[in-house]
Amino acid sequence: MKSSGQAFQQEHDMLEILAIIDREKLPRHIAIIMDGNGRWARQRGLSRSLGHRAGMDSLHAIVDTCCELGIEALTVYGFSTENWKRPQGETDYLMGLIIEYLKKHLLELCNKGVQVRTIGIMKEFPRTVQNVLSNSVERSSGNKGLILNLALNYGGRTEITDAVRSIARAVKEGSLQIGEVDARTVSDHLYTAGQPDPDLLIRTGGDFRISNFLLWQCAYSEIWITGLMWPDFRRQHLLGALADYQKRERRFGGLRENAESAPATPGPAGRPGSAWRRSWWPTAR
Ligand code: FPP
Repeated sequence: MKSSGQAFQQEHDMLEILAIIDREKLPRHIAIIMDGNGRWARQRGLSRSLGHRAGMDSLHAIVDTCCELGIEALTVYGFSTENWKRPQGETDYLMGLIIEYLKKHLLELCNKGVQVRTIGIMKEFPRTVQNVLSNSVERSSGNKGLILNLALNYGGRTEITDAVRSIARAVKEGSLQIGEVDARTVSDHLYTAGQPDPDLLIRTGGDFRISNFLLWQCAYSEIWITGLMWPDFRRQHLLGALADYQKRERRFGGLRENAESAPATPGPAGRPGSAWRRSWWPTAR
């Protein structure tokens, strides 16, 4: 049970959020490259493992905030296909943390309506990790709140390659014609099928790269990079990123909303106008 002090603090935090953020202009989908755990630990004379552990607390805080704000989807890069190159001690520790995070927080996540999903190649993880992941996905599948995509053993190029294979299979089997294959078809064959593309991509740790993360889906994402290391990233930093995002003008390759020459009707093939765009692209909210 919450004490009145905690309840007051929570109420205060919510008011703080409402004051800074325009709830009508929130991104539907936020993607995060949680970088800097190792550097954060090194700066403190700690092991890299402890950096990852501290990063787990940031993840918890950010999921919480996304739930409070009513964000539709959050995708976090927890383990890339390239992370297997790290020493086995570190990859084992990361597996252990994934298990710990889900065992510790699944009930709370479910109470908040979170739907846990995984994107990446799960079959390459040890059986114990796979079991915890599939159990978490299954137990939270009926929830209606935030979709939490855990990108694990994930690589954007592998995802696109998988999509191409699956489309080729459908063409071979005759359920799809080559002429029917368009950008929508590709989206529908990605791990994130059915979800809006990320409106906002956040990267901590200060590097200016995409690191093979959601390569197709981030085509029009607004990118927000901070030099903060992931274990230092908390609710107020997410709010800062959202406030900045809300100042941006999203054009999706078109012109400003009221620009005189903005196309009002669909453009010629291959050059979609605003009506076509509105039919399925994430809107600039
Ligand atoms: C990158 O930092 C971070 C990772 C490879 C792992 C992220 C994992 C967590 C935040 C733990 C919790 C995750 C889940 C899914 C429960 P880095 O180690 O590359 O940092 P560096 O660039 O400073 O070395």
